[in-house]
Amino acid sequence: MATQANSTTVQNNSKRKILVTSALPYANGSIHLGHLVEYIQTDIWVRFQKMQGHECYYVCADDAHGTPIMLRAQSEGITPEQLIAETSKEHQADFKDFAIAFDNYYSTHSPENRFFSETIYNRLNDAGHISKRTISQAYDPEKEMFLPDRFIKGECPKCGAADQYGDNCEVCGATYSPTELKNAVSAVSGAKPVEKDSEHFFFKLPDFEPMLKEWTASGHLQDEVSNKLQEWFEAGLQEWDISRDKPYFGFEIPGTTDKYFYVWLDAPIGYIASFKNLCDREGIDFDSFWESDSQSELYHFIGKDIIYFHGLFWPAMLHGAGFRTPTAIFAHGFLTVDGQKMSKSRGTFIKARTYLEQLNPEYLRYYFAAKLGSGVTDLDLNLEDFRLRVNSDLVGKVVNIASRCAGFIKKKFNSTLSESVSEPQLFDQFADAADAIAQHYEDREFSKAVREIMALADQANQYIDEKKPWQAIKEEGREQEVHDVCSMGLNLFRQLIIYLAPVLPVMADKVADFLNLDSMNWDDAQTPLTNHEIKKFKPLMMRVEDERVQAVIDASKEELKATQSEVKQDSTASKADNDSPLSAVPISETINFDDFAKIDLRIARIVKAEHVEKADKLLQLTLDLGGETRNVFAGIKSAYKPEDLEGKLTVMVANLAPRKMRFGLSEGMVLAAGPGGKDLWILNPDGDQENGAQPGMRVK
Ligand code: 2FM
Ligand code: ZN
Repeated sequence: MATQANSTTVQNNSKRKILVTSALPYANGSIHLGHLVEYIQTDIWVRFQKMQGHECYYVCADDAHGTPIMLRAQSEGITPEQLIAETSKEHQADFKDFAIAFDNYYSTHSPENRFFSETIYNRLNDAGHISKRTISQAYDPEKEMFLPDRFIKGECPKCGAADQYGDNCEVCGATYSPTELKNAVSAVSGAKPVEKDSEHFFFKLPDFEPMLKEWTASGHLQDEVSNKLQEWFEAGLQEWDISRDKPYFGFEIPGTTDKYFYVWLDAPIGYIASFKNLCDREGIDFDSFWESDSQSELYHFIGKDIIYFHGLFWPAMLHGAGFRTPTAIFAHGFLTVDGQKMSKSRGTFIKARTYLEQLNPEYLRYYFAAKLGSGVTDLDLNLEDFRLRVNSDLVGKVVNIASRCAGFIKKKFNSTLSESVSEPQLFDQFADAADAIAQHYEDREFSKAVREIMALADQANQYIDEKKPWQAIKEEGREQEVHDVCSMGLNLFRQLIIYLAPVLPVMADKVADFLNLDSMNWDDAQTPLTNHEIKKFKPLMMRVEDERVQAVIDASKEELKATQSEVKQDSTASKADNDSPLSAVPISETINFDDFAKIDLRIARIVKAEHVEKADKLLQLTLDLGGETRNVFAGIKSAYKPEDLEGKLTVMVANLAPRKMRFGLSEGMVLAAGPGGKDLWILNPDGDQENGAQPGMRVK
């Protein structure tokens, strides 16, 4: 049975054929620690599958198309091809140094990707799944190009903040359409944008609603993702705009000369193209992985912000074009550092290379593994915890076992392990843990795998503590005992390293060398090494020094000072390209209970509700909080007439900092729910009688 997102069984006997991908990074920015959560997660999973003896391939590529890449190349005075070649080199060096072992790393700007993009498009078109219509969009008359939202800037229509991009305000958090921006200018040329018509091509996603409803509810997605998608179905599937006008860096749409595939159309097809490139090079049977009734398994590891593309567009495109659909999509959460979003000013927006210049990549691989589960919750890199945990677990527990035993074996026993294991029960206990640990890896419950392995490491240390070989060696007649204890210790150490090998491949290689072994296979943990010659022990891992961690932060602060605009592009916009139909992050980052507890929710009576001049969406509410009166602007005009609100009770956030808006000061926020437009309801607590809700009451 194939692994699905929420039900898994490790099968030791049957060899599986597995193709795995991570999301393709954009070719105009550096790899940072946020990206690495995903690549490390995927790499661990792939290494685990390979250790099980499965035929498993891991492919990736740079996501090379789109307006930002075209403009970046222009601003650097190079061709897009030069830019993507340079970036690819940088990305591949970063990945290699983090021991991310792709079987192929390619580019979406490749002949294979052009071929498959055209094939998929033509098949969808032939089957009637492409429509065309004229739409009007912002256009830069000077630069002669249409402007994606993120390339228009102006004053926020809500709070008036200057220099706001696209469709949301970084100052007040308002969302709006870019046409609402005041004094809007093109971020490319500074010209005032005009509206211009052009014909666009749309993928008719609603044609696939029945197929998608079935697919998204049948184990291919994590439960929380599947639930989110059901909400999107309720909101209604929309046709997807897959074309962009020239100038654009991408592939021309067949049959046109001035229209290109939108970057998000050919990006996931890059998974197929990268794999095809690998198949051609290595003689792998491509069709058996991609034909519609393929028995191979296909997994995409992605961030939770790109679920819409992978959970809806992608399976629909594949199905419509006669390819197989994914076995599962594995989404993960975002990275926070010390509990907060990565930040330039705090120096926690850390590039892969900046980290590598100071710290061992396997520290991070281990730390992420120790915190990763199978869900979409965010992962926090707490820098102090990172240092302490790596030092205590890897250096203090795991490596310590070998350093306590290796010297005696070399000096006293001719570098050769004893004839037999002296504590077979303990060895068997470690061997028997293999299946449970394997199941955790299979289920992407890496933190559980690490916990089990560290519990074993504790036992191994306890064993050596009890036997005290350093004392025994001083006593006459106890040589054999020391030989046995140290041989046993090294056998336990080897078992631990086999289990940790997907996480720590570099360390595992060093240990294989030290133990004089050609390879480390998962099943080797079942058989002890006896009467076996080992090599000289060399230190396997140094402690994490606080100054090194600090140096990473300092270097990140320095670096990012120089490239602030670049980071803005990368961190705020790159994930959904901002040129996408989606502006919302599908599943919010989690907050902790303390954050939640800070929200002071109160019952309020709407004593007055009025229209606000020149505001399309707002009503001005006067709220009685049981003695105190507040003025609040609420975006509920589409759903309520002011007169219908007066006298009603509702729920407000009473401790929201007052916000200056164009129309006056807003002193709190009224809670409402619903998809929007007419379907928006203020929260309406029960009762206005003696025992019911009263203005000012705290909401629990
Ligand atoms: O969000 C991103 O960074 C995209 N470049 C990911 C593309 S994944 C796949 F669809 F190609
Ligand atoms: Zn604003």
